[in-house]
Amino acid sequence: MAYDVLDVRPMTRRIGAEIFGVDLGKPLSNRQFEEIHRALTQHQVIFFRDQQMDHDAHKDLGRKFGNLAIHSGVPGLPEHPEIVAIHADANSKFVAGENWHSDLTCDPEPPLGSILYMKVLPDDGGDTCFASMYAAYETLSDRMKAYLEGLSAVHDANPVYKAIFPDLDRKYNCSTHPIVRTHPVSGRKSLFVNPSYTTHVAGVSKAESNAILSYLYQHASNPDFQVRFRWKKNSVAFWDNRCTWHQAIWDYFPDTRTGYRVTVAGDRPF
Ligand code: SIN
Repeated sequence: MAYDVLDVRPMTRRIGAEIFGVDLGKPLSNRQFEEIHRALTQHQVIFFRDQQMDHDAHKDLGRKFGNLAIHSGVPGLPEHPEIVAIHADANSKFVAGENWHSDLTCDPEPPLGSILYMKVLPDDGGDTCFASMYAAYETLSDRMKAYLEGLSAVHDANPVYKAIFPDLDRKYNCSTHPIVRTHPVSGRKSLFVNPSYTTHVAGVSKAESNAILSYLYQHASNPDFQVRFRWKKNSVAFWDNRCTWHQAIWDYFPDTRTGYRVTVAGDRPF
């Protein structure tokens, strides 16, 4: 179906589109909302340039797509707990999202998606890569699809956040989800495991789990399934967390990169 009020330009055949002709700092019309929602469903991650949003407008944009989620692993801004700062500079020992992941798959209801608004960027570097987990699933062999059907995997945030915050004595989320997930809007199946949060396949030996996950990660990391976004100041990325991975590329140390992320709440994978 054609887009009437948006200019939607696909970036690859499988994933990613740039969208022009909308001011995200103003309330969206019903038609704009419907077309952005459709573009997100179709392209899985969508990008906007030259946007002006304060924190309230950023949250209002997220709320058009669902309730806002409070990040279960890291604290939000003091005045805006629904907004997480994504920041790296010369003092950073790590950056958020350095490894391939979907956000917070440790949660019982992982996020629907996230909206990242970038304000400070290095002169070069600091891209984000996104990968289609529809493509990853659809290109598996029929035998592998049959093997995975009905299997679940455990997603545990404790190893992730305890490594980052060793001094904090708290317990993070751990949940079990189907390895093959059906998207609640598109009805398409996607691969729903990721190298950051998934610790093991439930109900099989450790050796079998390691072998399966290692194969799936190698398969899903195929550049054919990816799009890479070159940020500029005031760019926005909105990804559908239910069917994508993403990875922040930290190739700009010791320079500074700062953005703000709003997370839209999701539902239990099935
Ligand atoms: C994230 O994983 O949300 C961070 C992505 C980025 O900084 O590009």
